[in-house]
Amino acid sequence: MKILIIGGTGHIGSYLVPRLVSGGHDVTVVARNPSPRYTDPRLGWPLVNWIIADRTAEERDGIWQARMAALEADAVIDLICYTVEQNRTMIEAFAGRIQHFIHCGTIWSYGPPSRVPYRESDVRRPLKEYGIQKAAIEAELIERYRMDGFPATIIHPGHISGRKWLPIDPQGTRNGVDVYRKLARGEVVHLPQFGRETLHHVHADDLAQLFESALVNRAASLGEAFSGVAHFAMSLVGCCEFVAHLFGREPNLVFAPHDEMAQMLGDAWPTTQDHIIHSPCCSIEKAERLLGYRPRYTTEQIYVECLEYLLETGELTI
Ligand SMILES: NC(=O)c1ccc[n+]([C@@H]2O[C@H](COP(=O)([O-])OP(=O)(O)OC[C@H]3O[C@@H](n4cnc5c(N)ncnc54)[C@H](OP(=O)(O)O)[C@@H]3O)[C@@H](O)[C@H]2O)c1
Repeated sequence: MKILIIGGTGHIGSYLVPRLVSGGHDVTVVARNPSPRYTDPRLGWPLVNWIIADRTAEERDGIWQARMAALEADAVIDLICYTVEQNRTMIEAFAGRIQHFIHCGTIWSYGPPSRVPYRESDVRRPLKEYGIQKAAIEAELIERYRMDGFPATIIHPGHISGRKWLPIDPQGTRNGVDVYRKLARGEVVHLPQFGRETLHHVHADDLAQLFESALVNRAASLGEAFSGVAHFAMSLVGCCEFVAHLFGREPNLVFAPHDEMAQMLGDAWPTTQDHIIHSPCCSIEKAERLLGYRPRYTTEQIYVECLEYLLETGELTI
């Protein structure tokens, strides 16, 4: 199959592209730099066709849609679409001439869940512009599938992580290695409230598996949305306990109200706040049932892989 991937060298693409190449597909990647950021360019990448282009600049100059309309593909995977307008351009460029269009959404389009685990059929209540736009893109794609047969699938990733891309940490932020060092040494780690808010990670290779499974199981994935997450969400306390136990310690946790956390974390607080307000916990039952999705990584395994990398590279010393 000829597969076009827009934005295929980042977290998702670094793992997805080699998978699709290994699967015998003819893969073309659009990016500004022809090199994967998180996997080895010598493995899986030599057979990739490159289109070096700046989407943002070409959208601004009004030439992006014509570029897309001139490309031949059986399937298109759009990993870097953030607005309804951008997505309409893609629909117009490819309607009636591709077999499959996969849009990368986000679990932020769901909003904070009322009932967990959140299912793809549950009501969307996104809080912020990012999630609002992604939810609107999803709604339009589903409508275009139902009205005109536009062959759309939407995949909503959780917190993407990988060996060289630190997961959202046990404090709900991505504030370097400090919290891991503190947990490893038995030093105090502050958590908001009671630390029971949740994170829902996904390893980038599991996400790649889900995109690939959607392509392979086209009939089951058309007109559908899927959450791309690990088997379980974990509480902040659970994440702290797991990481501390890896180093043979109990976590030394101190709980603080949000205003104190904001003072302590400074610039990192908005990230933690965003995560705890959303407290995601999503079901993968639909992806398992329809696509045979079997994530290999739990959140615990994601932390182990990243900690090994940090220790190997000397970024984390304890
Ligand atoms: N990160 C998360 O935890 C997370 C969670 C949920 C959903 N998502 C969704 O995941 C998608 C992003 O995927 P990702 O995390 O793999 O992205 P990423 O790591 O930020 O990589 C972005 C990719 O797009 C390319 N790119 C960026 N700007 C470009 C431009 N102007 N023109 C052409 N190519 C451009 C980059 O290559 P160059 O820099 O070389 O151009 C790279 O290939 C988004 O749809 C986002 O909403 C992410």
